[in-house]
Amino acid sequence: MKNLTSKRKKLYEGKAKIVYEGPEPGTVIQYFKDDATAFNAQKKAVLSGKGVLNNRISSHLMARLETIGIPTHFLRSMNMREQLVREVDIVPLEVVVRNIAAGSLCKRLGLTEGTILPKPLVEFYYKNDELGDPMVSEDHIITFGWADPYEMEEIIGMAWRINDYLNGLFSAIGLKLVDFKMEFGRIWGEYGDVYILLSDEISPDTCRLWDAKTDKKLDKDRFRQDLGDVVEGYQEVAKRLGLIPEGLIGEGGNINEDVAAQLEEIENDLAKERQLKSVKKTPLSKPRKG
Ligand SMILES: Nc1ncnc2c1ncn2[C@@H]1O[C@H](COP(=O)(O)OP(=O)(O)OP(=O)(O)O)[C@@H](O)[C@H]1O
Ligand SMILES: [Mg+2]
Repeated sequence: MKNLTSKRKKLYEGKAKIVYEGPEPGTVIQYFKDDATAFNAQKKAVLSGKGVLNNRISSHLMARLETIGIPTHFLRSMNMREQLVREVDIVPLEVVVRNIAAGSLCKRLGLTEGTILPKPLVEFYYKNDELGDPMVSEDHIITFGWADPYEMEEIIGMAWRINDYLNGLFSAIGLKLVDFKMEFGRIWGEYGDVYILLSDEISPDTCRLWDAKTDKKLDKDRFRQDLGDVVEGYQEVAKRLGLIPEGLIGEGGNINEDVAAQLEEIENDLAKERQLKSVKKTPLSKPRKG
């Protein structure tokens, strides 16, 4: 018999997270590291506390998105650095939604950073580190079979809804959602039907977030552009989301584990309620063959 308390198997180690085998089939554990990379891992650093913040921010945003009917991989948070998620087959795309010009869009098209786009812009990048995640069109995606037309319709529809919701959520706490990156994954239903879930993470590592009044950057651009106080920026985002109540962060930036545990309990109660509602619609694992 398999001993569940034995050291769990590492399935994949990425630049920002480690994926471990989960406690039941169809689940994996995401462990959020403090490692930061930029420019296709040419620039590297360890940012103490980043993993804890991204874990909390991403769990919270995914849980909020579930409440408006966006299916996500998030199941529950486990501890300060880990969350339990559904195991998916990742669609090899980075789906980017932009509201304001920044980053590579400015470089490519010569736009001034901060220009408000006439409408949200959805872009696709092929997830391939060796090729440097090149931008691709929907036609490339269909032609090479990375996703089919039905999946693309679903992904694009979800991207728009997620952007609408997150724009409102962030503007209510004085932040501009400049742009963000998403990954989607597939799971299979009982009859071979495919469900698309929002996967990976949504955090200041994957969003550009500016203070609405001052345009101060509170995201990974602080690291990319050597602006300093990177973790402080992420902390500010978490604080405004109501994820860092009084007492969570003590002297010298240390996290109070008792307060953190209480927060997890609250979030998991919410998650439990949600799962009862959604468990029928999105079965846990791929049907076994034969
Ligand atoms: N629910 C999930 N099930 C399976 N894999 C997932 C899930 N969510 C995210 N992943 C994958 O787990 C990995 C997370 O690690 P991390 O974000 O550190 O990767 P990365 O360094 O950005 O590399 P990659 O180029 O593979 O995305 C990514 O490859 C991501 O696509
Ligand atoms: Mg990643």
